Amino acid sequence: MINPHGSDQLNPLYVQDDPAREALMAEAQTLPSLLLNSAAAANAVMLGAGYFNPLTGYMNLEDAMSVSETMRTSDGLFWPVPVINLVESTTVKPGDRIALRDPNVEGEPVMAIMHVTAIETVSDEEIQRMAGCIFGTQEPNHPGVSTFTSLGKTLLSGPIEVLSFSYFASDFPDTFQTAYDIRAEIEQRGWNKVVAFQTRNPMHLAHEELCRMAMERLEADGCIVHMLLGKLKAGDIPADVRDACIRKMVDVYFPPNSVMVSGYGFDMLYAGPREAVLHAVFRQNMGATHLIVGRDHAGVGEFYGPFDAQTIFDSEVPAGALEIEIFKADHTAWSKKLGRVVMMNEAPDHDKEDFILLSGTKVREMLSEGIAPPPEFSRPEVAEILMAHYQSENA
Ligand code: ADX
Repeated sequence: MINPHGSDQLNPLYVQDDPAREALMAEAQTLPSLLLNSAAAANAVMLGAGYFNPLTGYMNLEDAMSVSETMRTSDGLFWPVPVINLVESTTVKPGDRIALRDPNVEGEPVMAIMHVTAIETVSDEEIQRMAGCIFGTQEPNHPGVSTFTSLGKTLLSGPIEVLSFSYFASDFPDTFQTAYDIRAEIEQRGWNKVVAFQTRNPMHLAHEELCRMAMERLEADGCIVHMLLGKLKAGDIPADVRDACIRKMVDVYFPPNSVMVSGYGFDMLYAGPREAVLHAVFRQNMGATHLIVGRDHAGVGEFYGPFDAQTIFDSEVPAGALEIEIFKADHTAWSKKLGRVVMMNEAPDHDKEDFILLSGTKVREMLSEGIAPPPEFSRPEVAEILMAHYQSENA
């Protein structure tokens, strides 16, 4: 199986031994508490699940700046996005062992224990500089920038031991998986070449065909549809609805043991190219050999060029930094001339009118009105689930 990123063995920070975890949970009740923000809590889940291997905890300011500016930690580890714990203010001191509390679960239960090695104040200029590097913009109307710049200016760094997977394990028991769960399942299925599909949306026909094309062209043993289960911007479709759509599509339209439906607990950054690189890092950690990167991967609005998330792998990711390979896909759409979904750059004799192209807004409008998009765009089973969702929202 493909190596994890940066180490020979995957080293998830979740304490898997039950008695050891229970003992830490009991100790946590005696420690000073810190309430995390959702971004830091999501980092803890990713660290716990092994997706952020080989990191051992939250980065200090030097590493966060270095990762932002050069995609390397100060020790030289390739890493695309700072993994940090920013707060407004704290009474915690360096050297303290503290209980990290979960902002996304009622009662704010403990989700990790942190050994605080440093507490640093980040200047406005440094926050802006990091935002510019990560998101490629400092525009406050970029949803990732606005979240990142409002997390606080006090940075707590140090190693953590993770004690819970927040709401992901309880709310998505069949879908949330750790990187080590996925590695075990890949092995059990007997797959070698494994292509991962990142998604934060329900899958329409173009996405389904994109997975099929990647599998065929790579001669992959299987595909993992790996959906984001954390927070999204307002208006995006909730994870349970996406999960239902994707499961239906896979059940009906893919042969058995060809596609795994799985999810990870992280909030969407909308960081386009940098997030695509992070996606590649953690798909390698879960055992995928390839990651599909299509059009406007992890993008939002008009902030990135449609293929910036592909070109970053050639222009900024040094050779050998990652073992996972990228399957680059052009815009996929239904060709009326050919009667199937194609990559648009592979149909050079086509005009725009030869494709069925519907904007996200148009599709939302149709679904809210109970009108199914054409079967060349959406599987009817998927459209049905989405129509029920939009109509219950409007009710
Ligand atoms: S993402 O934010 O998770 O990237 P989304 O779920 O919309 O968003 O996309 C999942 C993957 O499919 C990404 O790799 C994206 O580039 C790709 N993709 C989505 N729609 C298309 C399309 N019409 N043509 C080509 N690739 C696409």
